[in-house]
Amino acid sequence: MSEGHGYGKTILFGEHFVVYGRPAIASALGSKTTARVERIRAKDYELVDNRPETPNYKKEKFEEQKKSLENIFKAMNIDPKKNPLRITFGGDLKAASGVGASAASCAALARALNQEFELGLNDEKINEIAYEGEKGYHGTPSGIDNTAAVFGGLIWFVKNSEGGPNTMDRLNLKKPVEIVLGNTGITSSTTEVVGDVKKAKEENPEKFERIFDEYNKLVNAAKSSLLKFDLKKTGELMDKNHELLQEIGVSCDELELLVNTARESGAFGAKLTGTGRGGLMIALTPGGELQNRVAEAIEGESFSALKTRIGV
Ligand code: PMV
Repeated sequence: MSEGHGYGKTILFGEHFVVYGRPAIASALGSKTTARVERIRAKDYELVDNRPETPNYKKEKFEEQKKSLENIFKAMNIDPKKNPLRITFGGDLKAASGVGASAASCAALARALNQEFELGLNDEKINEIAYEGEKGYHGTPSGIDNTAAVFGGLIWFVKNSEGGPNTMDRLNLKKPVEIVLGNTGITSSTTEVVGDVKKAKEENPEKFERIFDEYNKLVNAAKSSLLKFDLKKTGELMDKNHELLQEIGVSCDELELLVNTARESGAFGAKLTGTGRGGLMIALTPGGELQNRVAEAIEGESFSALKTRIGV
């Protein structure tokens, strides 16, 4: 029997833009997914998924999850028909759109299999395998989720559009900062939303060029504000990033309500995080008091709120 883990993540800046080679800033969350593998007498692998979830998340993602598991077996050269296994997912990361739940489970499984089959793979290799697993969930993942899931911390990530190694730099925050993740309860399809953005970009290249240029300036300013620990500025830039995400068409009414509720309750900044059109909203809420106030306001609107920290 062997076990592995992968962290959840939140994207502070750059979902969707990262797909087109623009830098993004992500942070691992304190919560993680665990995977346990045991050899069994059976004809194939068995899956037990005990992760806590947003209602219906696991059911909706089941087919993609099967594909992801097959990708991981293939990438690791493991044939579950010859080596039947029980895979049990668990941990305290709530499976939902926007927290990198799929990547966390891929990283956890790759680690558990690495240990069980004594493959001796390092974290870089585990990250490559988790990326193959992510492809089961969406065709062209940028790689940011699996990178945060495997390495943890706060990261500056740039996807290599030529297919070479991606850039990943760790950013050191002076101290961890409280955030609130508000959950719309809606599971969106990353493949679909990424596909719609691609279509819109092809139909309106000038508009997207302007938005991408603005985003480039914004993300560089965000990096320096985080490094200077200027949280007011960081919050303002999150608000601006949300505007750009609205412009590319990935927000929705529920996300707008969450963003506005968080800002009205004093959040330094708020934006959608992850795929959009559902999933999660992130609000920057330094200090326990502000964090509680924002979380309560979100719950007051009948949404669930997760209180956690970035830069841990
Ligand atoms: O919804 P999430 O947390 O899996 O994030 C998706 C982020 C995108 O930029 C929309 C896609 C990607 O592959 O980076």
